[in-house]
Amino acid sequence: MHKTSDIQEAVSYIQQLTDVKPTIGIILGSGLGPFADTMENAVRISYDHIPHFAQSAAVGHANELVIGEVAGKKVVAMKGRFHYYEGFTLDQVTFPVRVMKMLGVEKLIITNACGAVNTGFAPGDLMLITDHINLTANNPLIGPNNPELGVRFLDVSEVYSKKLRAIVTEVAKELDVTLRHGVYAWWTGPTYETPAEVRMIRVLGADAVGMSTVPEAIIARHSGIETVGISCLTNMACGILDQPLGHEEVIETAERVKSTFLKLVTQTIAK
Ligand code: 6GU
Repeated sequence: MHKTSDIQEAVSYIQQLTDVKPTIGIILGSGLGPFADTMENAVRISYDHIPHFAQSAAVGHANELVIGEVAGKKVVAMKGRFHYYEGFTLDQVTFPVRVMKMLGVEKLIITNACGAVNTGFAPGDLMLITDHINLTANNPLIGPNNPELGVRFLDVSEVYSKKLRAIVTEVAKELDVTLRHGVYAWWTGPTYETPAEVRMIRVLGADAVGMSTVPEAIIARHSGIETVGISCLTNMACGILDQPLGHEEVIETAERVKSTFLKLVTQTIAK
């Protein structure tokens, strides 16, 4: 359970370093880190220095909160996130979302790199998350509830805001970017799925599978933050193609799609 005083301490520390009051948050997935470099009047704050933040060690991720402006909007970006597979508790994984809320964030864009389960999708496609399936048997709200932060039994009939999804869909059309729509399944990792598990996940109704996003989205919903999720399908999940899956492929595709993904996200913020 997140303690209100811990969140307050983190927020006070951040507010000492910037006067910017962000209303939009963004969590940058693999390959999207450069988004933070496009922010204007940016203040960068290392996670190491923020009270009660965990310290991430994931390869290919920086570890800083960047607060500044994008398209005239005040934004806080997480460059690097905490993953469950790194051994962090779900309280640690989602603490930054609580901090965003207290900083004044009303809308959150969550991005990630993940595997395509739907065989009609292709590596390099972007996917708007319409809903999720939690396959981890864990939940960031397990434990005592802090009523100052949200309700005990959370309605999750619309984790990913219809209104924000419509905006992203419209922006993709304007930019002539192919945007798939689909269900994201949350897998703990760090192993990818076996081919049999991928077949299971498809039967269960998911279009993509990844190791992040769902805990942050649940806590955003619990906090009353409107959320939208966009995935970069970096590869086909295991067993679809007759080839093994490597982290290099994930990084390469994320890199290839980066400029399109950046445009989509920036224009979404503008809108
Ligand atoms: Cl295939 N699975 C999971 N769980 N995460 C991924 C992935 C696959 N590809 C990129 N990230």
